[in-house]
Amino acid sequence: MKEDIVRILIPDSRIKARVSELGREMADIYDSKSGLTIVAILNGALIFLADLMREIPLKMRISLMTVSSYPDASVESRGPKLIAGLGDEVRDRHVLLVDDILDTGNTLRFVQREILDRGPASLRTCVLLRKTAKAPSDVKADFVGFDIEDEFVVGYGLDYNNLYRNYPHIGVLRPEVY
Ligand code: IMP
Ligand code: MG
Repeated sequence: MKEDIVRILIPDSRIKARVSELGREMADIYDSKSGLTIVAILNGALIFLADLMREIPLKMRISLMTVSSYPDASVESRGPKLIAGLGDEVRDRHVLLVDDILDTGNTLRFVQREILDRGPASLRTCVLLRKTAKAPSDVKADFVGFDIEDEFVVGYGLDYNNLYRNYPHIGVLRPEVY
């Protein structure tokens, strides 16, 4: 696996430090009495979610959605497809939407609409990574772990062809791989 990574962009130690900062920012914003409901987008947010939720010392509920935008071995988003969605669990809740990366924004635009249609008390969005080059102005993230350049990255939950999610750092894939 390691041999396919050309360069480490963000080492695990920096990810860990930033995730605990994000947890502190969220603990300041959300109220301990009403708590929050995290809606996380699988599979990419899996590892980020597991770490982030333990850095937020408030009562919380978790809901998971599965959205696929990269069919098979592709680095081009083809538009989000909902695989397993939400029921009524976000109604009147303070919702924090968590995803791995904001790239074209198609996934988050789609999921934000799914949540807003169900009448949450509030909706904020958190992404671990944001590619500033493409991020559209109509899709906002309230919390961003790191802004990165427009290159394809894997690790810490992010995949190529469903591989490399378990790589602990965020790294750039060797171009020969895809
Ligand atoms: P968007 O819909 O274009 O914003 O893309 C969002 C989804 O595409 C993310 O949740 C990721 O699953 C995937 N994605 C976008 N850029 C990358 C990348 O650099 N590496 C791995 N997955 C990515
Ligand atoms: Mg993905």
